[in-house]
Amino acid sequence: MSSFPRRHLLQIEGMERPEIDAVLDLAESYVLLNRTGKTPRDLLRGRTLINLFFEDSTRTRTSFELAGKRLGADVLNMSVSTSSVNKGETLLDTAATLNAMHCDLLVVRHDQSGAPHLLAQKVEASVVNAGDGTHEHPTQALLDALTIRRRRGRVEGLSVAICGDVMHSRVARSNIHLLLTMGARVRVVGPPTLLPAEIERLGVEVFHDMAAGLAGVDVVMMLRLQRERMARGLVPSAREFFRFYGLDQAKLAAAAPDALVMHPGPMNRGVEIASDVADDPIRSVIREQVEMGVAVRMAVLDRLTRAALANA
Ligand code: NCD
Repeated sequence: MSSFPRRHLLQIEGMERPEIDAVLDLAESYVLLNRTGKTPRDLLRGRTLINLFFEDSTRTRTSFELAGKRLGADVLNMSVSTSSVNKGETLLDTAATLNAMHCDLLVVRHDQSGAPHLLAQKVEASVVNAGDGTHEHPTQALLDALTIRRRRGRVEGLSVAICGDVMHSRVARSNIHLLLTMGARVRVVGPPTLLPAEIERLGVEVFHDMAAGLAGVDVVMMLRLQRERMARGLVPSAREFFRFYGLDQAKLAAAAPDALVMHPGPMNRGVEIASDVADDPIRSVIREQVEMGVAVRMAVLDRLTRAALANA
């Protein structure tokens, strides 16, 4: 329990393997508790968790809400469309307001990379990054690792292909850091326009062709085409993208016969993934990822709360 000393969870980069293992081990126990409905509702009793989402979200926000509630916290959801941010309030004024309310855990999603880091310097609460711009989405990478580990028994030594719009994906960045730290081999596969320049410097192998990129891999991780973050002209058309980079059964055949198919959601069916692959009962673990999301977020809230108590 000693290996999660941090006050905030802002990024995977810089996290060491024992710390990641500790979160995954704890999350594993929450999977079982969630399935039996026996979660420890007193752990966060009397604590307040605020979900502060400046960008849309379905599964991340709801799973943080469920995670907080299952541990007994009071959970408030603030979405920007109904908050004073729309009236021109700065991020720091919002932070000061939330601080005055003495919240314990602040879960933040923001379209600017680094926004949660800034908030973490200004509030007393523990801050969890729920996705900042194109930078990181640490709990997504943790839940992906938990999903892989439960299916394969390990992450080390596996070969993982992260495919599609890597350029705009905080999910990809967090996963690259986590998977490499855990000893997996990572490939990125996509058109040159959607792969960041010099991404190989992170220690990944780069492919522009799905057949070559998927050859023999143990895990195929698809990413959403994030048009809302795109300048024009990076992708000719959705149909063209699907033809070359969309995961269908024919392209999946290049991967290992038991390769797992993952997607963080939300999916664009027929753009980056074919419906029959997304719904493939044997290969696709997309729904399991959602279940693991709740368990991982419970583990993170648990660790941060215990760390805050120990340092109080
Ligand atoms: C991702 C995100 O918001 O970064 N979604 C998620 O949290 N599951 C990926 C995406 O939006 O495509």
